[in-house]
Amino acid sequence: MQSDKPAILVTGGAGYIGSHAVLALQRAGYHVVILDNLVYGHQDLVDQVLNVELVVGDTNDRALLDRLFSSRKFAAVMHFAAYAYVGESVTKPDKYYRNNVVGTLTLLEAMTAAAIDKFVFSSTCATYGVPNTVPIPEDHPQNPINPYGATKLMVERILADFDQAYGLKSVCFRYFNAAGADPKGQLGEDHAPETHLIPLVLMTALGKQDSISIFGTDYPTPDGTCIRDYIHVTDLAQAHVLGLEYLLKGGHSETFNLGNGSGFSVREVIESARQVTGTPIAAIEHDRRPGDPPALVGSGEKARTILGWKPEYPDISQILTHAWQWHQKRHGAK
Ligand SMILES: NC(=O)c1ccc[n+]([C@@H]2O[C@H](COP(=O)([O-])OP(=O)(O)OC[C@H]3O[C@@H](n4cnc5c(N)ncnc54)[C@H](O)[C@@H]3O)[C@@H](O)[C@H]2O)c1
Repeated sequence: MQSDKPAILVTGGAGYIGSHAVLALQRAGYHVVILDNLVYGHQDLVDQVLNVELVVGDTNDRALLDRLFSSRKFAAVMHFAAYAYVGESVTKPDKYYRNNVVGTLTLLEAMTAAAIDKFVFSSTCATYGVPNTVPIPEDHPQNPINPYGATKLMVERILADFDQAYGLKSVCFRYFNAAGADPKGQLGEDHAPETHLIPLVLMTALGKQDSISIFGTDYPTPDGTCIRDYIHVTDLAQAHVLGLEYLLKGGHSETFNLGNGSGFSVREVIESARQVTGTPIAAIEHDRRPGDPPALVGSGEKARTILGWKPEYPDISQILTHAWQWHQKRHGAK
């Protein structure tokens, strides 16, 4: 079906959140081109599920970007491409500053040269560091405690300066914990290595690992384990469509938290996964890991008010049900 909606470039569209955003953009009638270097992306999902043009390349490749932007007209860029392993960012900060900051700067320079002036950016709650208050509002001080969070904060500042200097309008989304999978089971999370709690719990349920580790049981939370705000990836994707449309209608630059405003503890997630999967899921308790705040919960009020965003799947058992459906399909039964 032909659509009169404009073309959008999605960097990192072969990855977890980006691929769900591509699906949401397609369903909303946009023409999408993906730029992904496939370091972590999945070409099979782009080819078999999304069926859009994939340009295999890197945001650090200015010549490629210039060719891409001169060969067709994009109304906006949605930028998911980044490295996102917090631990690795501590041991290899150069890799993170180069990819996440220099890569983004190169992309923004190419956009400016091509007069593309709308940008939707994947930022993170890691820019807040250890919060003074939860739920965290957008005007909470930003003091990242690892290089990964610092790279995202730097890009937020670059975007503010590009707006002032060149009129580039941006929406920065600070995600809390992306989780779940496309409710129709077409897409889902498939990171390698995997560090996120929900896929690791489900891989344990599938028998791919013997147990799930709980790091810290003496936090000042009701059951002693860390609390996180899990936000369904389809709800994140929908927010991106709304953020894009806000910019296309002439909205000024804004920053939004994407969280449900309530969190679940590690124990609660594991217990809910036992119920959803019908398997016992062994858990082993360990000491705290350095740098894990007791609770990270984001207020999504601003996105609700300004963008009209309404998360459809705030329930943890629904998030787990969709993720379980996907994990069984992708990684096979026991
Ligand atoms: N997963 C989360 O819970 C979470 C939370 C907060 C923020 N984020 C941010 O959301 C974005 C997407 O995260 P994800 O979980 O989907 O990660 P992901 O690794 O699944 O996706 C990132 C994609 O970008 C590609 N990529 C990386 N660097 C690139 C480059 N220089 N040029 C081209 N492609 C490149 C990778 O191949 C991958 O397909 C990232 O920017 C991440 O920092 C994620």
